[in-house]
Amino acid sequence: MSAIRKAARLRVLFVTPECAPWAKTGGLGDVSASLPAALAALGLDVCVLLPGYPSVRQAARNARKVADIRSAHGLPSARLLRGRLPSGVPALVLDCPSLYRREGGPYQDGDGVDYSDNALRFGLLSHVAARLASAASPLVWRADILHCNDWPTALAPAYLKLGLPGAAPSLVVVHNLAFQGIFPLDVAERLGLPPESLKSEGVEYWGKLSFLKAGLYYADRIVAVSPTYAHEIRTEAHGCGMQGLVETRANRLAGILNGIDMDAWNPRTDPHLDTNYDADTLEDKAPNKRALQAELGLAADDDALLLGMVSRLTDQKGIDLVLDALPELLARPVQLALLGGGDARFEQAWRERAAATPERIAAVIGFDERLAHRIEAGADAFVMPSRFEPCGLNQMYSQRYGTPPIVRATGGLVDSVGDFSVDGLHRGEASGFLFADATPAALVEAVDRALKVFADRVAWRTLCRNGMARDFSWGGSAGRYARLYVAMRAVAAA
Ligand code: ADP
Ligand code: GLC
Repeated sequence: MSAIRKAARLRVLFVTPECAPWAKTGGLGDVSASLPAALAALGLDVCVLLPGYPSVRQAARNARKVADIRSAHGLPSARLLRGRLPSGVPALVLDCPSLYRREGGPYQDGDGVDYSDNALRFGLLSHVAARLASAASPLVWRADILHCNDWPTALAPAYLKLGLPGAAPSLVVVHNLAFQGIFPLDVAERLGLPPESLKSEGVEYWGKLSFLKAGLYYADRIVAVSPTYAHEIRTEAHGCGMQGLVETRANRLAGILNGIDMDAWNPRTDPHLDTNYDADTLEDKAPNKRALQAELGLAADDDALLLGMVSRLTDQKGIDLVLDALPELLARPVQLALLGGGDARFEQAWRERAAATPERIAAVIGFDERLAHRIEAGADAFVMPSRFEPCGLNQMYSQRYGTPPIVRATGGLVDSVGDFSVDGLHRGEASGFLFADATPAALVEAVDRALKVFADRVAWRTLCRNGMARDFSWGGSAGRYARLYVAMRAVAAA
C-alpha cells in the first residue's frame, strides 16, 4: 500500500499560533490555512488548534463548546470550541479570555511590545495540544500525530515526553529559528514542567527556559520549511545558537518546502486586481501596473521598472539594504512600491524617503491584504533581499503573478527561484534574479541584471511566464508530510 494511502484517516492535530484569514502576522498564518487543507484533500483527518483571540472568536462565531479544560499547574481553565475554517477543515479554538482576549496581535500589544505572560499564553496552547495527542485527550478524538509550528507550540513535545500517558509522536516545524520563546526559568513550575526537565538535556537554554529548544530536544522529528534552510540551521551563521542541538538531531531533521494556496493567489481570479490575467493574457498585467501607480501616487511611467515589496520591516528582511541602496537605485529608471510594518526605525525611514520622492517611491505602512495582492500583480519585479529566509512565500506569489523576484540567495529563496541566465531562460528554468552578498551593492547589481532583461520585452515575458509555469501548489510537499507521519507512526508502534 502506498504511504499516502496508509496516511489516509490518520488523525493529525496541527497546532499553531496563527491561521489565515482568522489571525495572521506572516507566512505561518498562510501555511496554517493551506497545508491542513492540502492534507485533508489527501484523506487525512486533520484538525487545527489555535488560540481564541478576538478575531478568531469573531470569525468562528458558530463554534460550539466541545470540552472544558480544567486548570492545571499554574495554567488557567479554558474551553475548547469546535468550528470550521473557511477551507472546511475542522478547527479547535482554545477559548481562555484571560489569556487571549487582547486588543493587540497574537504575540504583542498595539505598541509592538510582547505580552508579559506569553509563557502562559503559549504554555497553555502547548499543554492542550499535547493532551489532545495523548490518552488524556479531553475529546473522544485523539491525535495520532502532533504537528507543532514554531516556538509558541514547541513545549507540546516536552509535555508528551514528560509524562502524558499514551503520547503520540510529534514533530516541530521550524518556520523561523530566530524566534525562540525564551523566558525566566522560574516560570517552569507554573507551566507544570518537572524539575528533571530543567537542564540542558531538556528545556533549559543558557539558564533560561526556551520553548523552541524544548521542541527541538523532545520532538520525534524536526522539519525546516525548505531544504536549504534545513542545512543552514546546522551552521553557526543561521543556527541562532541552536546549531549544536540541531546537529545532534540531524538524523531526525528534514526540509520540506512550503506550498501556497493556488486559489487565493491566482491572477486569473484574484478579486483585488483591476484586470485579471494569466500566462496567455500577460498583456493584461499592464493595467495593474498603471492602477498601482495611480493608487500610490507614483508617476504614470510605463518604462520604469516598478519594484514591489511586501514585508515585515525587520532586520531579517534586509530592509536596510534597500534603504541604503536607494540613491543608486534612483539613479536608474526604477520605481518602488513598499507595503510593510515592523520596526519603528524602518517605518520612519521609508516614510521619509517616500515623502522626499513621492513620484518614485511609495511606502504604505500597515497591514493590507488587498494592497499586497495588487503589488504582486502591479509591480514589474519583486524584491526580497532577506538576510535569512526560512522559506518565504512572497517570491512564490510573485512568480505566480508574472512578477520576477530579485532575491538574496538564502534559505527557501534558493529552493524556489531560478537565477537568470540566457540558457536557463530558454530551458524554462530561470524565473528571477539571485544575489549572494547581503550588501546594497550586490542588490543594485542584481537590479541592473534585471533592468537589462527588462529592456528586452520578449526575454522579460519569457522570464515572467517561466515563473508562472512553476508549480508552487502543496501537492508534493503535503505528500511529503503525509509520508513522514506514516514513518513516525511506524516507529512509535514498533
Ligand atoms: P514572513 O512569514 O517571514 O513574514 P513570508 O514571505 O513567509 O514571510 O510571508 C509573509 C506573508 O505575510 C505573505 O503572505 C505576505 O503577503 C504577508 N504580509 C507581510 N507583510 C504584509 C503587509 N504589510 N500587508 C499585507 N500582507 C503582508
Ligand atoms: C516564517 C519565515 C518565512 C516562512 C514562513 C512560513 O515566518 O520567516 O520565511 O515562509 O515562516 O513557513
